[in-house]
Amino acid sequence: MKVKDKEFTRFISAEALEERIGRMGKEISKDFEGKSPLILGVLNGAFMFLSDLMKAVDIPLQMSFIKISSYQAMNSTGKVRELIGVSEEIKGREVIVVEDIVDTGISMTHLLECISEKEPANISVVSLLLKPDALKKPVTIDYVGFEIPDKFVVGYGLDYDGFGRNLKEIYQLK
Ligand code: IMP
Ligand code: MG
Repeated sequence: MKVKDKEFTRFISAEALEERIGRMGKEISKDFEGKSPLILGVLNGAFMFLSDLMKAVDIPLQMSFIKISSYQAMNSTGKVRELIGVSEEIKGREVIVVEDIVDTGISMTHLLECISEKEPANISVVSLLLKPDALKKPVTIDYVGFEIPDKFVVGYGLDYDGFGRNLKEIYQLK
């Protein structure tokens, strides 16, 4: 599979994603029963995961989006910009942040600081993917879909220079 100028190979199938996300949804439904959490999906990457995950969660909840960006093409710039802030009332809420991937952990650390300032009752973090070997900041992810090696991936919301987000499966750089 070619995305822009790079070759990728299939890594996580649509079936494996569906199965794992279904189980994550059940677990979140059980853990947040009676709590009506506020789900904050991190754009752009988490859009496809959030959509499938929310279909697998069957408790009352509210949902919104935040947008940050730390990547330029394939290297983390180490700099994080918050593009779209949170407009919802966060104070006293059970917040669940939904991210596509935690790589160095810099974006998530920054995001959690920003959200904490708004005094939620609690913040939980869900990430479809985690690269444990790439972590530079100690960050606790409460729900991880898949732990993966420190190799670049695209598809299922994740992009390479803006391309590849629409792929149904996740591909790894060859
Ligand atoms: P971090 O701040 O290094 O943890 O990077 C987090 C963000 O970088 C994620 O939300 C993704 O948007 C992007 N990212 C990290 N690794 C990858 C990858 O392998 N493929 C595509 N995007 C990635
Ligand atoms: Mg992201």
